[in-house]
Amino acid sequence: MEFVTYETEGQVGIITINRPKALNALNSAVLNDLNAVIDGVDTNEVRCLILTGAGEKSFVAGADIGEMSTLTKEEGEAFGKKGNDIFRKLETLPIPVIAAVNGFALGGGCEISMSCDIRICSDNAVFGQPEVGLGITPGFGGTQRLARLVGPGMAKQMIYTARNIKADEALRIGLVNAVYPQTELMDAAKKMAAGIAKNAPIAVRNCKKAINEGLDLDMDKAIELEEKLFGDCFESYDQQEGMKAFLEKRKVEAFLNK
Ligand code: CAA
Repeated sequence: MEFVTYETEGQVGIITINRPKALNALNSAVLNDLNAVIDGVDTNEVRCLILTGAGEKSFVAGADIGEMSTLTKEEGEAFGKKGNDIFRKLETLPIPVIAAVNGFALGGGCEISMSCDIRICSDNAVFGQPEVGLGITPGFGGTQRLARLVGPGMAKQMIYTARNIKADEALRIGLVNAVYPQTELMDAAKKMAAGIAKNAPIAVRNCKKAINEGLDLDMDKAIELEEKLFGDCFESYDQQEGMKAFLEKRKVEAFLNK
């Protein structure tokens, strides 16, 4: 792939958006590569993904403004759908995805980070939804995911003012879980991913499903969903091994994803 690279380290997969000359801005070619890379992830072997950007300056500086500048209404809507479909695919992957935000996360960059399960960032990271300053709305899920993550009041302030925020403010409002020095970010992401990957994969997947799908349901239905996914773990090798190891006062030998 020209614009997106993929590598695995053990049971962790690392996706890197790689268009540093344009600060990893998302044009159609980058989005096509990203879509193909996501399709190629073996979610039976890989237990956690990390998404990051190439270079030290930018995670993703947004959708490509040059490409968008001449779009018609219909083409604009189709471009929004293209990004949304891919980001939704990322969000609904059965395995967790950690966004390691290594710099600018603006517009589509903030939006793709919000499609991930967990966000951590470097101390030079900048988040924002600058779209109204360009005469458009956020178009890759920003109006929906930002409001769900930081609450409608703060999301509206960020989106209406188009004001960017630095890493410390992103941490304060709950947009990211932790901030690291730039040189330590990837190690921290890998450590977190390895910590997730060593846990029982069926249980981790079911947790992701329960949280993501449960948030869209009323509490009675959400609790029912949790019960089903809780029950689904039983009789698995990993549940039996996990509980046996506890009762025998030993460490789990290995979770086998079965
Ligand atoms: N689209 C296209 N090209 C971009 C880009 C973008 N979103 N962001 C940066 N680039 C390009 C610049 O045009 C420049 O290219 P050239 O060297 O060929 O001129 C290169 O990346 C480096 O950028 P700058 O020279 O501007 O770097 P800087 O350090 O001075 O500024 C920045 C960095 C503040 C991030 C600035 O580049 C910037 O404001 N970028 C645009 C951010 C933005 O508005 N993003 C939202 C896009 S809209 C969107 O994403 C809609 C949606 O929801 C789907």
